Amino acid sequence: MAALLALAVVLLGALCGVADGQAVQTYSQSGGPKHENAYATILYTGTVRDYEFYIATRVMLKSLQSFHPKADTVILASVGVPVPWLNKLAEEGHRIVVVSDVPNPFASPESHFQHRFLHTFNKLLGWSLTEYKRVVMLDADNLFLQNIDELFQCGKFCAAFINPCTYHTGLFVLEPSNATLSNMLSRIASTPNRDGADQGFLTEYYPNTKMLMSPMFDAPVDGSVLDGEMYRLHFGYQMDAGYYYLSHAWHIPCPNKVVTFPSVPLLKPWYWWSYPVLPLGTWWHQHRWDYVGYGHEVPALVLQGTLYLVALIFSLCLRRKCFADWQKDGVKPCLGNRCGSESDWLNPVRVLVGAIITPWTLKVAVAGALLLALAVPAYWIPTTVHPFMAWPIYFLGALALTSAVLAAFPTLPVLPALTPWLIVFLIWSDMANPYWPNIFQKIFLGCVLVAAILSPFLLWAALRLSKWADGVFERIGEREPLMGGIINRTKSEPEACISMAKLC
Ligand SMILES: *[C@@H]1O[C@H](CO)[C@@H](O)[C@H](O)[C@H]1NC(C)=O
Repeated sequence: MAALLALAVVLLGALCGVADGQAVQTYSQSGGPKHENAYATILYTGTVRDYEFYIATRVMLKSLQSFHPKADTVILASVGVPVPWLNKLAEEGHRIVVVSDVPNPFASPESHFQHRFLHTFNKLLGWSLTEYKRVVMLDADNLFLQNIDELFQCGKFCAAFINPCTYHTGLFVLEPSNATLSNMLSRIASTPNRDGADQGFLTEYYPNTKMLMSPMFDAPVDGSVLDGEMYRLHFGYQMDAGYYYLSHAWHIPCPNKVVTFPSVPLLKPWYWWSYPVLPLGTWWHQHRWDYVGYGHEVPALVLQGTLYLVALIFSLCLRRKCFADWQKDGVKPCLGNRCGSESDWLNPVRVLVGAIITPWTLKVAVAGALLLALAVPAYWIPTTVHPFMAWPIYFLGALALTSAVLAAFPTLPVLPALTPWLIVFLIWSDMANPYWPNIFQKIFLGCVLVAAILSPFLLWAALRLSKWADGVFERIGEREPLMGGIINRTKSEPEACISMAKLC
């Protein structure tokens, strides 16, 4: 046995070794520059969002590649990025440059530092790519609508304002320079920084106020490269997706070239739950679907869907069976299947259970179980799958778990127990309806109003469930105070309960 185990370990080690060896070869071979300019982005590990940024980076670069840029696409990958990811990126035509993370002096536990910004100073390493004349640095949350190669004609530093006073560092043009890089690195810690990230640093290093006064970039028609210090880029290079939602259309009179999603971190377009609130998520997923696929997540989704289906069928059968059985025998079911003879009442376990199970603990348990039934499936679904795959699995899962609660408490009234699920489903359906003309109507008519209309039903369900819990205990009266009304004892009860216990 031990020998077998040792053999397995050795084999596994050998396999990993082989995989590693190949990987190093593959991505170091993707090697040198092929063009005089480059698009570059950073990829690092060390936050909970590593995988989704790997996917988002691939989607973003694929959307860029679809416009056939005449430039390299470079990944500044931190040392810790998994080798299979680098292989995939190299295979998709990107040049991998492995870098060490730039230390973040603001990442102290006592500050309000956001951990997701831990390695964003790596973006400064774009200045180290001195084999290129110009580099356009890109965040993973951009999507392209046009070719933007004209940006390589811009000056030493160019960026776009997505609000009136701060430019955005989700896309900027830089002229690589070792001298600038070392100057920046030496000043990170001493420069005031609003967010402890690259944005806070750059908007001080190349001040917002100076950028505001800089000329607007207009690509020279003769293709020549501007060599001024700073230029503003028009808003179309960093179209904030938020503007789409004002009218569910692009009504901004800038040439719309690159859409960015700088919104609340938890509403990034790749999260399945951001639809139907923010329907551009399906546009992002159209890109993922076309270029990257869902190979990693589909097995998990299929497995979850199957488990939920089995759980649903099993719960339905269980409940029907139990129900039929105690109706037939004319007894109420025993809570927790604890049934037995009179002498059993002295059993300390039963005394303890009797003390713990009161109408209130029963109410809390049922309410908690119903809420968990709604929450747990959402938690398990992989975060970056297509909303059209995720939502059906979510509703199936929530329904299956609600049925499991109904099976666990066979006398629980069905409609009140199903009400929370129904309400979530109705609100979702109303919000997902494609006819809401803008985000405000979607939220207020699609969500708030419907929630208000449906809330009396929730109240009704809560009252019904509460009455049910009280009813379970009332039947006992004073005869068996210790069990707090667990069972309505009739003559035939012990046998009925034993058969119940077998069934359930
Ligand atoms: C910048 O530094 C890198 C790494 O030290 C070096 O390979 C590169 O040649 C330098 N570039 C210039 C233009 O000096």
